[in-house]
Amino acid sequence: MKLSAPEFRAMQSLPRRLGQKHFEMPIFKRMGLNLRGKDVLEIGCGSGYGSFLLNQLEAKSYLGLDVMEEQIELARKKYPQFQFILQDASDLSQFENASKDVVIIFGVLHHIPNWRKTIDEIARVLKPNGRLFLEEPRGVDLKAFDFLFRWGHPDTDFGLQALEEHITKRQLNIVHKQWTPLLTMYHLKKSA
Ligand SMILES: C[S@@+](CC[C@H](N)C(=O)[O-])C[C@H]1O[C@@H](n2cnc3c(N)ncnc32)[C@H](O)[C@@H]1O
Repeated sequence: MKLSAPEFRAMQSLPRRLGQKHFEMPIFKRMGLNLRGKDVLEIGCGSGYGSFLLNQLEAKSYLGLDVMEEQIELARKKYPQFQFILQDASDLSQFENASKDVVIIFGVLHHIPNWRKTIDEIARVLKPNGRLFLEEPRGVDLKAFDFLFRWGHPDTDFGLQALEEHITKRQLNIVHKQWTPLLTMYHLKKSA
């Protein structure tokens, strides 16, 4: 779903970029994020700062997708060297089965009413032993954010327990999991 105006503004802010660069990326790297020579898909790439960070890791190919036109326009303007498409993540039918080595999500599933379908699609497009790096907030933190900042997240049944139940059904196994005050971060590996 599209972001509310306050969340859209927050996603373009300096604190957001600093958090992604100095907090989230180092944790993913410590968890084993390695993109060298890999085919990489970023889900919910926003205005592209993640693409800038991820492409420093020498991926073979990178594609960022997002459902919000405004985000994709900004991403294409700021980072014309990278590839972005306007696409709902619950439909990845344009990608073949087992075509991606790594999928990355910086805080997106909690915006998608049909988030289970998105997980199903990611599991389908990942190669055997492929990796999903994922960070999402807890349901209770989303409610606190909405109360304090009026970000207006969609009312879905997304939660970390439901997420973990669903990824297990799709043969995405937890390699590392790290709780942080705002986000819980995962490194998942698809079964061979
Ligand atoms: C909280 S923002 C995070 C943006 C970026 N990943 C970051 O960390 O700054 C969530 C992003 O997910 C996108 N999004 C929401 N629903 C989506 C969907 N169904 N398919 C693809 N992207 C979606 C939004 O447009 C937004 O850019």
